[in-house]
Amino acid sequence: MIRLTDVSKTYKSGVKAVDGLTLQVNDGEIFGFLGPNGAGKSTTIKMITGILSPDGGTVEIDGVNMAEQPIAAKSLIGFVPDNHEIYETLKGTEFLNFVGTMYGVDSAAMAARIDEYATIFDIKSVLPNLISSYSHGMKQKLLMVAALLHQPKVWVLDEPLTGLDPQSAFQLKQIMRKQADMGNTVFFSSHVIDVVEKVCDRIGIIDHGKLVAVDTLDNLRADGNVSLESLFLTITAHDGDKE
Ligand SMILES: Nc1ncnc2c1ncn2[C@@H]1O[C@H](COP(=O)(O)OP(=O)(O)OP(=O)(O)O)[C@@H](O)[C@H]1O
Ligand SMILES: [Mg+2]
Repeated sequence: MIRLTDVSKTYKSGVKAVDGLTLQVNDGEIFGFLGPNGAGKSTTIKMITGILSPDGGTVEIDGVNMAEQPIAAKSLIGFVPDNHEIYETLKGTEFLNFVGTMYGVDSAAMAARIDEYATIFDIKSVLPNLISSYSHGMKQKLLMVAALLHQPKVWVLDEPLTGLDPQSAFQLKQIMRKQADMGNTVFFSSHVIDVVEKVCDRIGIIDHGKLVAVDTLDNLRADGNVSLESLFLTITAHDGDKE
């Protein structure tokens, strides 16, 4: 479970990226986070994962307060960032062992999970190679495997579908559903509306740092069979000069 209570963040530049955001994402739920470029999705995700501290408000992961118990809260999270700045001079296997060890996973469980997830994402054959030789999608998949090694209660992914081939996108959706069915929480941001429409139990839309909609797709479509795309475009329609 993720609980954000009145969370705000202003960068030193003066940009208020997130403005009084309150949101709860429950166990067993896949939550899709949508919003235009610059709306505050990545900033919110960095506060959920404890990478950035909010200026105000609280972040709780399974009831553990991120500001008060950061290590305990972070150990409940598996995070897949939107950039792929990983250790290029390590081999895939070395990176996974490093991450798994940091999270206290024992070696037998680690080997089994690496085998399981690397097989699903079809990167097993490249694990002995240096990460510097990986394509964008291969790095993305390595990060997804790494984030699952400690069986996180909360799986947070920032634009995970970018650069994935159709098979891998399909596998990712299956794994998201499996994680949710196990009672875990899945939170991801995306611009791929049809995927969000298909896999998410609930959807949140952020615009100019404020949560402007949060509900199931059916409830958001209260007035009929509107597509999520037109809902999104209507909800985030700007008046031109608003900042
Ligand atoms: N490190 C930073 N320093 C200053 N301003 C930042 C920083 N990171 C983000 N911002 C600003 O904060 C706002 C929100 O950015 P954020 O990256 O959270 O948006 P986003 O919704 O993830 O966008 P995108 O869809 O493009 O990934 C933007 O106005 C952005 O310019
Ligand atoms: Mg972003």
